[in-house]
Amino acid sequence: MAKKIRLNMEVDMQDLKSKILELRKEQNAVLLAHNYQIPEIQNIADYLGDSLELSKISKDLKENTIVFCGVKFMAETAKILSPKKKVLLPVMEAGCPLADMINVEDLIELKGNHPDAWVVSYVNSSAEIKALSDVCCTSANAINVVRNVPVKKIIFVPDKNLGWWVQKNVPEKEIILWQGYCLVHEQFSIDDLMLVRKFHPTAEVITHPECPHDVLEKSDFVLSTAGMLKRVKDSTSKKFVIGTEEGLIYRLKKENPEKYFYSLGSARTCLNMKKTKLEDVYNALAKGQYVVELNLEIMEKAKLALERMVSYV
Ligand code: 13P
Ligand code: SF4
Repeated sequence: MAKKIRLNMEVDMQDLKSKILELRKEQNAVLLAHNYQIPEIQNIADYLGDSLELSKISKDLKENTIVFCGVKFMAETAKILSPKKKVLLPVMEAGCPLADMINVEDLIELKGNHPDAWVVSYVNSSAEIKALSDVCCTSANAINVVRNVPVKKIIFVPDKNLGWWVQKNVPEKEIILWQGYCLVHEQFSIDDLMLVRKFHPTAEVITHPECPHDVLEKSDFVLSTAGMLKRVKDSTSKKFVIGTEEGLIYRLKKENPEKYFYSLGSARTCLNMKKTKLEDVYNALAKGQYVVELNLEIMEKAKLALERMVSYV
């Protein structure tokens, strides 16, 4: 009996996938997915990547509609970079708590206190914060962006750990940090790192720059999710300890079946990234939901900050 139910579920899943692909074609749509999405979404996506890759891709697409499987700031970024396209976020409540850790009033006050500084905002921020920024950055290019900023003093928002990592690598700049953090990455600890080094002494330890700074300091590599995929592919090591959201480990294993992956401590899950299911993608295409709409003036200002980022790296 249990076997029969499972078979039906698989048939339903197959059916849903075919319907999504049919609708995608009918509507001239493209499916973009972040590396933390659930396996079913990763497997159906036209493009899978980190924030920087997906931003660059969304700029040059020929399709009319982008279905963004990720979180709100990512879909907003795609809309800002492709204002003429319809951008759909399948689950309206898929947000990023880190992005919500700074608001417009906070940033205006900070700018007022440091009028000679440039604002560099991590893409994990709202469109309004981007609009108040001089340039944006992602985890893949933050060091290069800050190096390229033509002033010494920088206000870096909202992630304190990424900001700390940038300051360590670009000591010639003076960075004012906002104290935001990612609830998921903040849980990786130095104790777990020490323990894992004991049990897997030959493994490379690769962490995301949103991890606490003592973890970053003791890692072998600090990289964006796309950077991690590249490092694993290029490395001759067989074992890797990964300090980022567990969705990436699915892709790492799939693309490197001969290598071994361990999470740094317990596997950490971003609940917002896991909200999008195949049913939501189907509904997004079938009902045209949920359309990302932004104020025109905000979009234009935010676009300048995003375009400056792309021109720097
Ligand atoms: P990446 O750009 O490295 O994929 O990171 C996005 C993110 O939200 C990390 O938590
Ligand atoms: Fe935001 Fe953290 Fe989730 Fe990334 S992992 S989307 S920073 S909450």
